[in-house]
Amino acid sequence: LTDVSDDLTEILISEEQIRSRIAELARAIEADYAGTDVLLVGVLKGAVMVMADLARELKIPVTMDWMAVSSYGSGTQSSGVVRILKDLDTDLSGRTVLIVEDIIDSGLTLSWLLSNLNSRGPASVEICTLLRKPEAARVDIDVKYVGFEIPNRFVVGYGLDYDEKYRNLRGVGILSPGVYT
Ligand code: PRP
Ligand code: MN
Ligand code: MG
Repeated sequence: LTDVSDDLTEILISEEQIRSRIAELARAIEADYAGTDVLLVGVLKGAVMVMADLARELKIPVTMDWMAVSSYGSGTQSSGVVRILKDLDTDLSGRTVLIVEDIIDSGLTLSWLLSNLNSRGPASVEICTLLRKPEAARVDIDVKYVGFEIPNRFVVGYGLDYDEKYRNLRGVGILSPGVYT
């Protein structure tokens, strides 16, 4: 039996740390958005796990929609070229939008997504990301909710992939360099 976690050099953030931090973020979001119909926009595919856990942790009513964009392809570096692979089904005019992401690396994906969604006439667009790499930022983005700031290492798990693998790990870990060199 091959264990998917065998390719990690270390676990950076455990399943329990993620669970507890998402609960804290959910309390802040509930307080900030009380009385508002929030549309959570998950960015496929990385945000699947954080969307599923955050949405179930929230006690306020929310709706969910999904966009698929990709900038990484199969490499470990962001290309900055963003493609829409699947657009939203929802009309954003007048909507209160909270983008849900797994990670902000260079910030290029979200910077592009923000201006794209803002051009559709929403009431507001904010961001909730589980992870952010401050050292990797190539654009400055205003992020309302951040789970963890992490060092500039290639991480996988909890939705984050390398070549589409490792998304099903329960925690976030550092991939052994031997896997991609
Ligand atoms: C990853 C990640 C973010 C984005 C962050 O997605 O899930 O969406 O890159 O990188 P950036 O801040 O440098 O733009 P990816 O393009 O790999 O697609 P995926 O979610 O399907 O894995
Ligand atoms: Mn992604
Ligand atoms: Mg990816």
